[in-house]
Amino acid sequence: MNAPLTPGMVKDLNVPDHVTNAKLIAWVGDMVALCKPERVYWCDGSDAEYDRLCQQLVDAGTFKKLNPAKRPGSFLAWSDPSDVARVEDRTFICSEKQEDAGPTNNWTPPAEMRAKLEPLFDGCMRGRTMYVIPFSMGPLGSPIAHIGVELSDSAYVAVNMKLMTRMGKGAIDVLGDNGDFVPCVHTVGAPLAAGEKDQTSWPCNPDVKYIVHYPETREIWSYGSGYGGNALLGKKCFALRIASSMGRAEGWLAEHMLILGVTSPEGQKYHVAAAFPSACGKTNFSMLVPPTGFEGWKVTTIGDDIAWIKPRADGKLVAINPEAGYFGVAPGTNTLTNPNCMASLNENVIFTNVALTDDGDVWWEGMEKDQGALPAHLIDWQGHDWTPEDAKAGKKAAHPNARFTVGAGNNPALDPAWDDPAGVPIDAFIFGGRRSTTVPLVTEARNWQEGVYMAATMGSETTAAAFGAQGVVRRDPFAMLPFCGYNMADYFGHWLQMGEQLQAAGAQLPAIYCVNWFRKGEDGKFVWPGYGENMRVLKWIIDRAERRVAGEQTMFGIMPAYGEINWKGLAFTPEQFATVTRIDKAAWEQEFALHDELFAQLAQGLPAALPQTRQALQERLAAVA
Ligand code: OXD
Ligand code: MN
Repeated sequence: MNAPLTPGMVKDLNVPDHVTNAKLIAWVGDMVALCKPERVYWCDGSDAEYDRLCQQLVDAGTFKKLNPAKRPGSFLAWSDPSDVARVEDRTFICSEKQEDAGPTNNWTPPAEMRAKLEPLFDGCMRGRTMYVIPFSMGPLGSPIAHIGVELSDSAYVAVNMKLMTRMGKGAIDVLGDNGDFVPCVHTVGAPLAAGEKDQTSWPCNPDVKYIVHYPETREIWSYGSGYGGNALLGKKCFALRIASSMGRAEGWLAEHMLILGVTSPEGQKYHVAAAFPSACGKTNFSMLVPPTGFEGWKVTTIGDDIAWIKPRADGKLVAINPEAGYFGVAPGTNTLTNPNCMASLNENVIFTNVALTDDGDVWWEGMEKDQGALPAHLIDWQGHDWTPEDAKAGKKAAHPNARFTVGAGNNPALDPAWDDPAGVPIDAFIFGGRRSTTVPLVTEARNWQEGVYMAATMGSETTAAAFGAQGVVRRDPFAMLPFCGYNMADYFGHWLQMGEQLQAAGAQLPAIYCVNWFRKGEDGKFVWPGYGENMRVLKWIIDRAERRVAGEQTMFGIMPAYGEINWKGLAFTPEQFATVTRIDKAAWEQEFALHDELFAQLAQGLPAALPQTRQALQERLAAVA
C-alpha cells in the first residue's frame, strides 16, 4: 500500500505491493541514496491521486485553482521567469564517442558528465518528496510502446505526467517482474535545508541546468528546470532523443511528427504523419477542421507532436502516438486558428504562464480575436497588473511559450484508433517548414530518396518569440535538430536504409511530401490562408496516393496543377497559386548553396545518396528556363 506522505518513509522506500520489478526497486533505492529526498511517493496514476496532488500544489502556491464556473477542474501555474522553455544549449547527448552524437548535439564524454552530475544530484532532493512516476509511452502493452520511470521532486511534473502519458499502475503492470524501463531522474535542483520552507512557488535552479541523455545505457538525467520538455522527461528526452537512438538500433523510427486520420465522405480512411519544427502550427494541423467545400470530410487526431513508427509484418509502416495528452503553446490559439483545440481546453487543464482574468479564468494573446477586444485588466504571467496600455507598449500578458497541458480525451476530434496498440498505417509523410520564399506550397518527392533529401534540407525562418532573431533560416532536418539522439548524418542513413530494406522486401512505402504554408507576397503578407484551408492540400495528397491526379513535374518534385485542387468555398486565384508555387531559379541556386553548407557540417558519415540527389536536382534546375 502507498501510505500517506509522512517523513521517515524513505527507510523502506515504501514500495507498494503491486511493484515487483526487482530492477526498479533496486534503482529507486540507489537514487534515494543519492538524491536523499525526505520522502518517497509511488504514483498510482489514479484520479484521486491527481486531485490530491493538485490540491497540494494549490496549497503550496504553485497552482491557482481557476474559477470552476469558467474552467472546471483547471489550474494555472506561473513559473520562475528564468525557467520558461526548453534549454537546448544545456541539453547533452553523452554517447561514448563524440561522432555518435554528431556535430549538431552538445556532447561530453559520459564519464566526465557523470562526474559533473554526481555532486549535483547528491542530496538534490533534500527536504522534498521523490515522486516515482511509472509511465508507458504508447498504448499499454502495445508492441511499439515502451515503459519509462521518472523520479522527480516536483509534484507539478507528476500531475503533468498523468495528463501527458499513460501513467501509474498500468505501466507497473506492463513492467511485471522482469520488464525493462528507461530510467529518468529529474530534480528542480533546489534542495531545502532542515526545516527550511520554499521561498518560491516555482523552485528551480536559475544558474545550473543540465538535460543529459546517455544513449548507450538509455538513461535521462535532468537537473535544475521544472518546465516542459526539460522536466516532463517522457516527451522530448525519451520519446525523441532516447527513442530515436533505440529506433536506429532496432529498425524503427521515433519522429517529431503529428499523426492524423482523414476520412472521405465515402468512408475511406487515410493516415498521415507530418513533421514541422516548433512554432509552425503542428497542433493546428493535427486538429484541422475541413473548410467549406469539404462537406462530409473528417480529420481526426492520433497525435499532435510525436510518432513512433514501425514496420508491420507485411512491411507497412504503422504509427502510434507515444503520448496521451497535449503540451501545446497557448498564445495564438483561438477558435479561428484551432477550434478543436479551444474546445479541448474547456475543463481539466493545467495552464502554465498564461495570464489570469479578473473572473478567475485564463487569457493569452490571440484570444482577443474571439472576444472582439482586449480585456480591460489582467494579471500577467509574472503576477503584475496588465491593461491594454501594456499591449500598446508591447508587453505580453502571457509568455510567448505559455502552455496548456490537457489529456487527449478532451479533444473533440480525437481519432477512435488513437489508443490502438497496433497503431495506424501511414499513407503519406509530410515535411514542412516556415519559409517566406523559395519552397513551394506542396510538392511530392519522386521517390523515397528524394523525399529524404527534402526532409533533410528543410528549414524554418525563426520567429522573434522563439529564438530572438527574426527571419533567419534555421536548418531543421526532419524537424529533429533539437531532438535527434544521435548523429544527424547517421539518422539520414537510417531513413534511407529502412526505405531500401522495406522496398527490397516488396513493401509499399508512404509517399513523401514537402509543404510550406508560409510563402509571402510582395506586400510581406502570407498568401496562403492556412489553418482549415490546408485541407485542400491534404486532399490533393490523398488524390495523388489514389493516383486520381497526375500533378506536374517540377525541379523539386511533383506539384499540383491549379485545377487539381478543390477550390470550392475559397477565392484563391491562379495568380495567387502561382505566387505560392513558383520555383524561383535564382532563389533555388542560393538555397542549394545553403544545403551544401548543411551537408558540409554533417560531412562525417553523410550518405552519398544525399549529395547525389542534390546533383540531380541541380541539373533539373539548370534545365529550368
Ligand atoms: C514542442 C516543441 O514543445 O517542439 O513540442 O518545442
Ligand atoms: Mn514539438
